[in-house]
Amino acid sequence: MNGRDLVRSMRAVGAVGTAHAVRTMRAAWRARRADAAGLPPRGPERARVPGTVQEVRPGPGGGVIRFSRSELRVIVAVNGAVFWGWDGASPEPSYALAGSPEPDARAVLEPDTEGGWRVVAERVTVVISRHGAVEVQTPGGVLVRRELPPRWWEPVGGGVARWTQRSEVAADARFFGLGGRASGPRLRNGTYRLWNTDPGRAFGPGDDPLYITMPVQVVVADAATHLVFHDTSWDGTVTLREGEEGAGSGHDRPGASELRMQGGPLRCWVMVGTPARVLLVWASLTGAPTPPPSWALGHHHARWGFGGAQEVRRIVSGYLERGLPLDAVHLDIDHYDAHRVFSVDREAYGKLPELAEDLRGDGVRLVSIVDPAVSAEPGHDVYDGGMAEDAFVRGAAGGVVRGVAWPGEVVFPDFTDARVRRWWGALYAERLGQGFAGFWHDMNEPTSFAAFGESTLPRSARHALEGRGGDHREAHNVYALNMARAGYEALRDLAPEQRPFVFSRSGWAGMQRYGGAWSGDVATGWPGLRASLSLVLGLGLCGVPYSGPDVGGFDGFPSPELYLRWFQMAACLPLFRTHASLRAGRREPWEFGPQVLEHARVALVERRRLAPYFVTLAHLAGRTGAPYVRPLWWSAPEDRRLRDCEDAFLLGDALLVAPVLERGVERRAVRLPNGRWYDTATERAYEGPGEVLVDAPLSRIPVLARSGAVVPVRGDDGGLELEVWAPAPGRTGGGLVVPDPGDGWAEPEIERYVTRWEGGRLVVELEHEDGMIASPRPVRVRGLGGRRAQM
Ligand code: GLC
Repeated sequence: MNGRDLVRSMRAVGAVGTAHAVRTMRAAWRARRADAAGLPPRGPERARVPGTVQEVRPGPGGGVIRFSRSELRVIVAVNGAVFWGWDGASPEPSYALAGSPEPDARAVLEPDTEGGWRVVAERVTVVISRHGAVEVQTPGGVLVRRELPPRWWEPVGGGVARWTQRSEVAADARFFGLGGRASGPRLRNGTYRLWNTDPGRAFGPGDDPLYITMPVQVVVADAATHLVFHDTSWDGTVTLREGEEGAGSGHDRPGASELRMQGGPLRCWVMVGTPARVLLVWASLTGAPTPPPSWALGHHHARWGFGGAQEVRRIVSGYLERGLPLDAVHLDIDHYDAHRVFSVDREAYGKLPELAEDLRGDGVRLVSIVDPAVSAEPGHDVYDGGMAEDAFVRGAAGGVVRGVAWPGEVVFPDFTDARVRRWWGALYAERLGQGFAGFWHDMNEPTSFAAFGESTLPRSARHALEGRGGDHREAHNVYALNMARAGYEALRDLAPEQRPFVFSRSGWAGMQRYGGAWSGDVATGWPGLRASLSLVLGLGLCGVPYSGPDVGGFDGFPSPELYLRWFQMAACLPLFRTHASLRAGRREPWEFGPQVLEHARVALVERRRLAPYFVTLAHLAGRTGAPYVRPLWWSAPEDRRLRDCEDAFLLGDALLVAPVLERGVERRAVRLPNGRWYDTATERAYEGPGEVLVDAPLSRIPVLARSGAVVPVRGDDGGLELEVWAPAPGRTGGGLVVPDPGDGWAEPEIERYVTRWEGGRLVVELEHEDGMIASPRPVRVRGLGGRRAQM
C-alpha cells in the first residue's frame, strides 16, 4: 500500500480527518523539495578498489595494512571479536558499541603466503590477501567467512561514497538476524533493506523492511557459528543467497551475502564460536540486555481506544473477577490530550494518578505510550519548551522540519544530541507523576505520514550526531536507539531505585542496553502469527532478547482459534501483550467464548507459575546475552535439520515450545534436538534427535522439557520451587536459577543445580562454596513415569 492508501485507510478508521490527509500531502511535497535543495546531486562517480598491499604497520591487536588506494585497520579484541575498518575507519564513534574493547596484545600481524598478511589470535585467524580480501578462519584453519575486496563509488566532485561488500560463507550455512524480519527466522534468498520503516499498514511475512533493521547477520554452519556486524547506520541492502553443497563429486557453491550501502564507514566486527559464545561476545561489545522489572515479565493488556479510565477499570476488574492474572495495562495515544505527547485527556482520564494507584493496589502497573513527534503548536508546553531549547530537527535551510503524525503537524526532537536527550528525558517526570511505571516508545523510526515517498524525515534533515554533525541519512536508523537512551537514562535518574521499563517499536544494534522491543502492527491472520515469532527469534539473535507481538494481531478480528493459538504462543515469549487497533476486534480473553476463556486462563496461570523461570532468563540474558527465546539449533548448531526448523523454539535451556501456527491443527510434528524430552502436559518421554508427533489440543500448545532440567517455578504459596525433569537413566542434568533480586539494582545471585541418579535415587544438589549440598529449595520431580524420587 502506498502513502495515499495509508491516509485513505486512516481516514476510513477515523484516525485522521481530511485536514490531516491534506497535511500528509503537503509534508511529502515539503520533504521532496527539502531533499532536492539540501542534498548534493550525485553526479558522475568513480569506482575504487583497495589495490595491492604496499606496507604494514603492526599495532595493538593487529595493525594497519596500507593498500595502493585504501588502508585497512585490523584489531582483535580481548573478547575474541575481530574488527576491521577500511579507509581509516576505527571502532569509534559508534552508536552500537557500549565501549571500546581492549585490543588483544597477544594477537600479532605477520606475513602470510602470496604477499598477504594474517593476524593469529587465540580464537580466530584473520587472513588478508594482497588485494584486500579478508578471511576469518577458525584456529584450525577452517574458513568461516571471506569478505572480498570492497568497492567504492565516489562522486567525482567529492562527497559521500557508496560501497559494496561481497562475502562468502560455507555452502551449508544458514543466515539469521538483520533485526526484526517478518519472513524469517531463516533468511532465505532475497534482498533485505536496512532502513527502519513503518510499513504503513499491518504487516505479514512478505513485508520488508520493518521497524527494526540491523546490519547484523548470525550465520550458522558446520564449521562454526559467527555473527558479523557492519557498523554503519546508513541506508543499504543485504542480498543473501544460501549456498548449495555439491552432491558426490560435484562442487560446493558457497553461500553469499552482498551488502550495498549508500554511505557511512566500511567497518566490520566478527565473532566466532558456539551460538552462546557469539551472543556473549556481542553483548560484551554492544552492552548487556537490561533485565526488565519482574512485573514486565507478566501479562500486559493494551488497547488503542479504551475510551477512558472507566473502561480501563472495567477491563482490569474483568481480569480480576475471572481470576485471570494481569500485571500491566498500557495506555495508547488516545489517553493524551489531542494526541499530544506528555499530556492527559482530562475529561476521559481526569484522575490518572488515582487510577494508577488503585490498579497498583491490584498488582497492575500502568504503562504509557510515548511518541517522539511533538505537536507543532505554540502554547503547547512541550513544543514551547523544545523550541526554547532548540531541540527539534532542522532542515538544511535552517528551519525546523515539520512532519505529520497523530496530533497533526509535528516536529521531531534530535535525539542524537546529548543536550536534547536530557531535555526530553526530564519530561518523563510528568509521566512518573501521573503514576506510570513503564514506557512504550512508538512511531520512532521516526514516522511522519506521507502521502507518497518515504514516511519519515527528509534525508537532508540535519542532526547533531554528538557534535559531529550530519544528516538524516546517517541518523535515521539510530533515531529510536537514541530515544530509548534518552528515556532510559532519565528514568534511571528520576526513579533511581527502579530498573526502567522501556520497550520500543524501532531501534538498532545496542538497543538492549536500554530495553526491549515489540513486533509492531502485525496483521491479524495465521501468517501474522508466524511472522510475529520470526521477529522475536531474529531480534533475540541480534542481541535484543525481550520482545513479543500483539496477541491476536493489530488490525482485525481474529477467529477464536487464532486468538487462542496466538495467546498460547505469546504466553511463552518475553513480552506477553494483548493489543489492537482502534477499530479492530476486542482482545480480552473473555471476548471469544467460554472455551477460549478457559484455555487462555490456563496459559495465564502457567505464565505466572513460570514467573521465576522468566526472571531467571531475564537475568541470565543480562549476564550472557543469551536470548530467552532461541532457535532449536542453539545448543546443536551442527544439526542441520534444526537450522531449517522455524516452527518451534527453545525457551531457555529447559523448555521447547511448539506453537500451533495453522488452523485446525490439534496434533503436530515437533523436531527434537538430542536427548530425552518430556511433554510437560502428559509427562510422556520422547527421544531426540528426530521428529515426533505430539498432541496439541485446543487447550494447550506442546511444551516439552529437557530431561534433567531444573525449572524454577512459583509454588502454591508464592515461594520459589524447583520443578526437576528426571534425567534419563545414567544421565545427569542441572540448571541455573536466579532468585528474583527485586526491581532495583541488586546484583542477582546465580544458583547452580545439578541433578543425577544415585542408585535408584534422584539427587538434586546446589553448588555451594563448601561443595555440593542438598537443594535448600522445595523440589518436585516430574517425568518419572511412575517411579518415585527420593530426596
Ligand atoms: C502505531 C503503533 C500501535 C499503536 C498506534 C496508535 O500503529 O504501532 O501499537 O496502537 O500507533 O498509537
